[in-house]
Amino acid sequence: MIDVPALARALHVAAIVHWIGGLMFVTMVILPSLGELRPEIRAASFAAIERRFAAQARLSVALAGATGFYLLHAFGLWGALADPHMWRLVAMLALWAVFAIMLFVAEPLFLHDLFDRFAATDPVAAHVLLLRMHRILTVIAIVVIIGTVAGAHGLDF
Ligand code: HEM
Repeated sequence: MIDVPALARALHVAAIVHWIGGLMFVTMVILPSLGELRPEIRAASFAAIERRFAAQARLSVALAGATGFYLLHAFGLWGALADPHMWRLVAMLALWAVFAIMLFVAEPLFLHDLFDRFAATDPVAAHVLLLRMHRILTVIAIVVIIGTVAGAHGLDF
């Protein structure tokens, strides 16, 4: 018999690796490299790269969410959301919600246009803002991953 929760956990982690790995690559490699280009072409270059990754990230965020909610249900963890020792569950949900709203709602509806207009008026400030937001999300993602794996394997904090 296939152990469905074990398979779901494996798919969940694979989705996280793709999504957060991509976030880290954008934060630590792509954005700093774009900072070496002329300010006027930074936003357009970023848009061209980001368009490809955003399409892929939508898939991995959707898969992480579907498997995550299934795991909550399969392990009977809905009630544990209120337990402070299980803070990792709320942290995972909150981080996922931020990305889901950004990728599926804010970006297609208004964020993309808003950022393009900002970048057209002040490309240097737009690049700094983009880098800062990506760095904050990267640090939070690292904390969530370490807290989740440590907590799921017995570390109580
Ligand atoms: C809808 C959002 C999410 C839900 C409902 C969810 C739920 C879960 C559940 C119930 C588990 C089972 C293990 C445990 O007891 O903690 C798990 C495992 C895991 N989750 Fe999430 N998760 C979500 C999003 C995320 C995010 C955003 C990350 C990291 C950035 C993440 C990283 C992980 C990792 C690394 C594991 C494997 C832990 C291990 O077994 O070593 N999850 N998730």
